[in-house]
Amino acid sequence: MPVQTRQIGLSLGADLCWPACYEEIVQRLQLSLPSGPNTVEFAVERVRPEPFDLRAKPKYDLVIDRVTHWFYTTREWVKKIAIMDDVYVLNNPWMIQAAEKHTTYCAMMRLGFPIPETWLLPPKEYPTDADFPVTTRRYNKLFDLNKVAEQVGYPMFMKPYDGGAWRGVSRVDDAAALHKGYDASGQQIMHLQNAVDPFDLFVRGIGIGPQVNVIKYDPVAPLHGRYVVDFDFVNDKELATLQRFTRVINAFFCWDYNSCESLRKNGVFHPIDFANACPDSQVTSLHYHFPWMVKALVKWSLFCAYTKRKPKLNPNWAPYFAIADKDLSFDEKLLEYDALARDYFDADRFEEFCGTHLAHLDEVAFDFFGTPRAKAIFHEKVAALYPKHEVEAFTEHFYGLVQFWRKTESDRKPTLARGAASGPSAGATS
Ligand SMILES: Nc1ncnc2c1ncn2[C@@H]1O[C@H](COP(=O)(O)OP(=O)(O)OP(=O)(O)O)[C@@H](O)[C@H]1O
Ligand SMILES: [Mg+2]
Repeated sequence: MPVQTRQIGLSLGADLCWPACYEEIVQRLQLSLPSGPNTVEFAVERVRPEPFDLRAKPKYDLVIDRVTHWFYTTREWVKKIAIMDDVYVLNNPWMIQAAEKHTTYCAMMRLGFPIPETWLLPPKEYPTDADFPVTTRRYNKLFDLNKVAEQVGYPMFMKPYDGGAWRGVSRVDDAAALHKGYDASGQQIMHLQNAVDPFDLFVRGIGIGPQVNVIKYDPVAPLHGRYVVDFDFVNDKELATLQRFTRVINAFFCWDYNSCESLRKNGVFHPIDFANACPDSQVTSLHYHFPWMVKALVKWSLFCAYTKRKPKLNPNWAPYFAIADKDLSFDEKLLEYDALARDYFDADRFEEFCGTHLAHLDEVAFDFFGTPRAKAIFHEKVAALYPKHEVEAFTEHFYGLVQFWRKTESDRKPTLARGAASGPSAGATS
């Protein structure tokens, strides 16, 4: 049978650990999949930015891009290959550039998500050149910050409308903190958002294609301890709701890979941050949850490359708004939104693909994450982040948590622990 190679590009910055594990696992899967009269194989390579002819044909079928939000040469290259050459890119670069936190709040409020009361403030200061002075003097309305705050309600959070990485985020408990924070915000456009306070649970839903993993999160722990290892911290209904939140947000914004933070108060989950289309993907943050993330990325990217999934260049919001306008409860609407989202991600076909062609992935990943090679990859990542005297201890720490993942995996699926998988299991590549 003629062999077609699907070329996958990894567009990277500081990431070290997931790409190396991704490459190892794809290689160990030894895939050779039937596709009509052809056989499809997969090759993975790291993208190297270079001058490019806008009409040049790229070699890639799919690119996993992790730098679009700050590395603009790559952003523009990714746009070119998506528009001109039908390359599937994770994530849609236009929707990263255009849909900052503010847009996502507005859109999900319109869909009825329980986003806390949020106001946008014109900035405290403006540039003194161009038309700024005349425009602000002529048109900006003087306002009473205390009155705005009364409507938002204390305690609240002040944070940039396009935030990320906790830049400029502060908790505001009273008028003194409000004025201090606003005075310090300079030319930034800030939101005031009512605090979900007290909350009894903080979770992050990590979404990759239609797959969503809901992880307990501790925002005040040191960085290596924020993603908590815990089980059964939500009931089935809550889990389904949280998975739907993330999947709907991602389908709505054409994001394949994103995370959603939600806080629970009085039994209701309030999403507060879900424009994170380059989510934490390091073993040093995710540890126990890292293998899930790598496997989910392998599955989704192979599915997209194998099926030649067309890049989703434009969001389609009208069907969501039509549901929002119906006379239904939010739970009922969420179910309907999720049906759109699953359809967007071709979830049934994806699950069938995984069952048919990637049945051996669990074994391959289980074995790989117990190898010296996996440990060496973790070591490299830890060495890039930690002071020298902590590198060995933290490598053991993260590797140990991944071994705990292997234990829980083999408890869940006892056949995994019985023997090393040396290649595809029978039927996996049929
Ligand atoms: N409305 C809120 N209620 C309670 N806590 C909040 C609220 N908004 C923000 N926080 C707290 O502040 C933190 C940072 O806010 P947010 O996640 O919106 O900013 P960010 O800069 O996008 O963060 P990151 O990119 O690191 O996730 C949250 O993780 C949470 O701990
Ligand atoms: Mg956040």
